[in-house]
Order: sequence, then C-alpha cells, then structure tokens
Amino acid sequence: MSNPPSAEKTNGPAREETGPFGLSLDAALAADARERLAAVEALLLDCVRGEDPLLSDASRHLVEAGGKRFRPMLVLLASHFGDPAAPGVVPAAVVVELTHLGTLYHDDVMDEATVRRGQESANSRWTNTVAILTGDYLFARASDLLADLGPDAVRIQARAFARLVRGQIQETVGPGPEADPLKHYLQVLADKTGSLIAVSGHFGALLAGAPTHVVDTVTSACEKIGVAFQLSDDILDIASETEESGKTPGTDLREGIRTLPMHHVLAGVGSGADDARLRELLVRDLSADDALHAEALALLRAHPAMDRARADLRRWAEDARAELLTLPAIPARDAFTHLCDYVVSRTG
Ligand code: IPE
Ligand code: IPE
Ligand code: MG
Ligand code: MG
Repeated sequence: MSNPPSAEKTNGPAREETGPFGLSLDAALAADARERLAAVEALLLDCVRGEDPLLSDASRHLVEAGGKRFRPMLVLLASHFGDPAAPGVVPAAVVVELTHLGTLYHDDVMDEATVRRGQESANSRWTNTVAILTGDYLFARASDLLADLGPDAVRIQARAFARLVRGQIQETVGPGPEADPLKHYLQVLADKTGSLIAVSGHFGALLAGAPTHVVDTVTSACEKIGVAFQLSDDILDIASETEESGKTPGTDLREGIRTLPMHHVLAGVGSGADDARLRELLVRDLSADDALHAEALALLRAHPAMDRARADLRRWAEDARAELLTLPAIPARDAFTHLCDYVVSRTG
C-alpha cells in the first residue's frame, strides 16, 4: 500500500499545507512532521538491518512496502503538547510502528492473508514459520529501543501489548453464548487496535513532558480514534478493492470474523431485498467456497447495514473530537481533529 498523499495546497490559507492523511496542517507543524517522519523512517530501517539474511529480508519486506505510518504520526503530533524536540519522541514513534508491524506479520498468519501493503504477505512469500519469527524479531527490536525510554514507557507498552493480544484471542474465540455480540466486538476493537493507537498518543505527550491531565486526555482520545480507525478498516474490508486498501477484500467474511455491518445484518438492521439469503450466508463457513463468498460480499456491500456502520463510525469519531477539544488549542490539536475526519472519510 502506498504512503499517504502529501501535497502543497494551492487555494488554502498561506500558512496551511496539506500533509499526510490529507491533514490541513499549520506550515510549521507540516515541516516538523516531514522532517521527523524522515527520521522515523531512517531509524526504522536501521532497526531491521540484521545479521541473518532471511530475517533481514523478511523484516524489511513490509517496512519497505510502505504503510500509512499512522501511529508514528500520532506520536509526533502528541509531542507538541509538550516539548516536541524531547529525545525520546522519535524512538517512541519507531517503537509503535515496529510493534504494529510485528502484529501485522502475526495477524496475516492468523487471517491467512496473502496481500499486505499491496505486496505479498510474508506468510505467503515465505512461510508461516518465517512470518511468526519475523514478527517476534520486530517485537524484540522494539523492546531494545524501548529500554532506553525508561521503565514507565516499558510498562505502558507491555500492558497495551497484553491488551492487543487479548483482543486478538477474543476475536478468535468469539463471544460466549451469554455475551452481547456487539459489545464483545467493540471490546475486541478497543483491545486489538485502540490499545496501541492510545499508546502512540500517550508516548508522544508523556515523553515530551506534557502535563498529566493533557497526557491522559490525549491517550483517551487516541483510544477512541483507534476504535474508529478499526471500524473504518472493517468497513473497508467489505467495501474497498485491493488497489485502495493494499489487502484482499472480504477477508473478514472469508475468515468468519463478524464485523459491524455483519452484526447489523444479523440483528435485523435496515431492510435489504436479499436479507434472508445474506443472513443464511453469514452463518455459514465461506472459507472454502469462492462463489458463496463472492455472493455474500456482493449482498453485504449493497446492504443498508453498511450505511448504518458508517453512521456508527461517525459517532465514534465525533466522540474522539469532543474529547480532543478539551485540550489546549494549538495547531497539533487541529491536526488531531482533522484525523477524526480522515478516519471517517477513508470509508467513502
Ligand atoms: C492495519 O493497520 C491493521 C489495523 C489495525 C486496522 P494500518 O491500516 O495502520 O496499516 P498500515 O500500517 O497502513 O499498513
Ligand atoms: C488487525 O486486525 C489488528 C492487529 C493487527 C492487532 P485486522 O485483521 O482486522 O486488520 P487487517 O485488515 O488485516 O489489516
Ligand atoms: Mg487481518
Ligand atoms: Mg485479524
């Protein structure tokens, strides 16, 4: 998948530019983001240069494939609530990206995904064994950098990582017979994705020395942005093509992972012409039948439950924005609120 678009704005205010994720950024903030994202990139590549040629190749594979660098961007933006030049900020941005990347290698094994960031996934290009070990290697590289950021940072990361793994396990296990499936789903999103996105904001603000109440608010708002981000990713898994997402559409459906639009269909939200057929398909195993999978995907794409899921996404993004608006009014706060728009607008 390609990097986010970045272009000079020609018709906006003189001191604003369009930066990554289509953010309308204060010019100084944009210059700072550009410069420090380049530093993040250099350190990332440095971290995956290893002695073992296969480990090196396999870990560079997805670093070089691009990716949005959403989490590093959050670290950098959050650092503006304190001293953005504080020495831990860029390494922290690399820690969250390396951790994220490690989870992608493992996630693609779990989800039997063959495409990632527009490239063949590591499990497909090599084997599950290589992909799992490469993910472990990336976690080890992240821990190495993290050690220099102090015990508080290590603990924050360790606890979020435990949550992330719990989210992945809970997604795999599914809701118990007594559980509310929608509540279970939202908890999975907060744990598997919100946790690390919250750490991104947390690290940026904390390591820059922002006041405690600001650190807490940034962390909490980023967790909401994280849930919204995963909701949008789940909508895109159904609605988008590989060229846009860099992944294979319908992966959740094929793997039997129920996401928000599917929960809405099964709960009887909206009324599509082929509701009964779609509901029947959603409770079947679609993993080995391409024709049934394609039929279910087409019905789901056209179902009103998709618009309902988009409306839910907008609400999550609005909640995040409301929390962000309690922060000091600096250009980084505007950038954060624009990220809320980005998360919604990427689903079309
Ligand atoms: C993908 O994350 C996994 C999710 C938590 C949705 P991203 O959408 O940030 O993936 P990259 O880093 O841009 O490839
Ligand atoms: C990814 O979830 C979450 C983590 C990697 C922790 P998904 O499986 O929904 O993400 P994609 O769609 O493969 O990126
Ligand atoms: Mg996946
Ligand atoms: Mg997954």
